[in-house]
Amino acid sequence: MTVDPSLSITEVRNASIGGRQGLFRIKIGSGRIETIEPEGGEAESGEVIGSIDAHGGIVTPPFVDPHFHLDSVHSIDETGENESGTLLEGIALWKAYKTRLKPEQILERSRRYCLEAQALGLQAIRSHVDVSYESLAGVEALLALQKEMAGSMDIQLVGFPQDGFYRNPEGERLLLSALDAGVNVVGGIPHFERTYEEGTRSIDRLCAIAAERGLRVDLHCDETDDGASHHVETLAAKALEYGLTGRIAASHTTSLHSAENAWFAKLLPLLAESGVTVIPNPLINLTLQGRFDSYPKRRGVTRIPELDAAGIPVALGQDCVRDPWYPLGTGNLLDVAHMTVHASQMTGIDAMNRLLPMITSNGAAAMGLPGYSMREGEPAHLLIFSESNFVELLRLRPRPAVILRAGNRIGNV
Ligand code: FE2
Repeated sequence: MTVDPSLSITEVRNASIGGRQGLFRIKIGSGRIETIEPEGGEAESGEVIGSIDAHGGIVTPPFVDPHFHLDSVHSIDETGENESGTLLEGIALWKAYKTRLKPEQILERSRRYCLEAQALGLQAIRSHVDVSYESLAGVEALLALQKEMAGSMDIQLVGFPQDGFYRNPEGERLLLSALDAGVNVVGGIPHFERTYEEGTRSIDRLCAIAAERGLRVDLHCDETDDGASHHVETLAAKALEYGLTGRIAASHTTSLHSAENAWFAKLLPLLAESGVTVIPNPLINLTLQGRFDSYPKRRGVTRIPELDAAGIPVALGQDCVRDPWYPLGTGNLLDVAHMTVHASQMTGIDAMNRLLPMITSNGAAAMGLPGYSMREGEPAHLLIFSESNFVELLRLRPRPAVILRAGNRIGNV
């Protein structure tokens, strides 16, 4: 990224900060947050170069999406519509389409999305990339995008065996090729293997691969309405067994919605001990899940408030935008948080404020990224809004007035 020095910011004055009373001055030097101190109220004379007055607007870290699919974004016009609205039809539509894909197409669509989402405040994406087909076109395209966007957006790639790690006979070979090519994280989909036992075995092998290579693990895990799907328990236990504590994410876990309370109560301390981050994707799972129910129809969202109250890190993901799994989506993580308020009945003021770390620092921690929690010494990646508090951000879901990356204005100037 080339940065015009005139866009370099040295301080943000009169900033509101989530969870703290009063207004603050954020001093920035060498691209990092130097200090965050209460405003002293002294008069300023004239315009200070590099100083921004937030006029009481809330300043937050940039949004972090820890679960997305950049290879399929904006592909719906070509894949065709998912008429049943199920996960399974989405997988089938994508499978029929993906072998024809060229890397240039994926690069063009995913770049377009990153620029759209960046203007809405997003600066970090963990994207799964399908590694189930021979050309690995998505891997080639997204590694190029990762390089292209470095400096203005953190992109982390998860090798995702969409057609199954064992269900697809080439699953392991293709995943290892993708990791050799530079893909960062080990993915999987145990609930889509041919049998439950194969799903369990896939978790063991995937964790072993991650441990051998020093990588993190992020599985699509228990994305089903079957309350007896307990792969997350195996995943947490394997995190301990393979020394991957704090380096594992369980995405979706929609089965927890339908699971037995007694089993869930036993699961919580295991999740805490193993440092598993749970990544719900409410926009997508509200539409995909419950499709086999008559009325009443279950909502396909995992137990977010209960996990959060037990100290389990929860990070919310967008998952899909305009692809065979979801026809809508903007990339605005405030939309995801807004939907979570409704789906998980998090309408109390404190409950709504709990959603800010779920769309910023928790996802960054799962990805191992610095710079997304407004701490002194961190890179000065910041969003400045006109609204004065986070609840108003949830209500209005506005664009940031100013976007900073390492202390430089990169958008919405
Ligand atoms: Fe996903």
